[in-house]
Amino acid sequence: MHLPMRSTIESVKQLVQNTADELDYKYHIESVVRHALHLADILHADKEVVELAAYLHDIGRQREKGDEHHHMLGERYAREILGEHHVSLEIINHVCSCIRRHRAFKEDLPQTLEEKIIANADAMSHFEMIPLFFYWGASRATYEEAQAWVKKKLERDWEEKLTLKEARELTLLQKEAAEKILG
Ligand SMILES: [Fe+2]
Ligand SMILES: [Fe+2]
Repeated sequence: MHLPMRSTIESVKQLVQNTADELDYKYHIESVVRHALHLADILHADKEVVELAAYLHDIGRQREKGDEHHHMLGERYAREILGEHHVSLEIINHVCSCIRRHRAFKEDLPQTLEEKIIANADAMSHFEMIPLFFYWGASRATYEEAQAWVKKKLERDWEEKLTLKEARELTLLQKEAAEKILG
């Protein structure tokens, strides 16, 4: 039986909120969803695909510790979760490719508008969560190492993930502020 899409999205949101670390959910997931829906609105993308993918894009690293393959793991978990909600195969496939490509690696770049929106919204959120990056990176060996890691991450976000003109414009102030703060 197909559930109405709104109740599926609410249920997926609840599941992610219960799975993610509280700070991750509050300062990253919620802001990715907000940016992704805003971009979907101005670019006339499929909002259901975008909202589901925004909530689920980091489920791989939330269910299993470790960042390295979380886009692939996330795709697998999302397929399972959406299947349990009886979402149509067409939507499942598109949400899953958004998740698999959200890190915008050269070998598997975002192709569809919705895939690009998720990669862009993820990067937009990173520019707003610099304190959380430092908090997470507190166990790194030195302050300088944590600083270099955050700086490099944001540089890659700006160069390789923020490919949409609209997303770059919306992030320009934060990017300039980050450069002033991080040097
Ligand atoms: Fe991620
Ligand atoms: Fe993310």
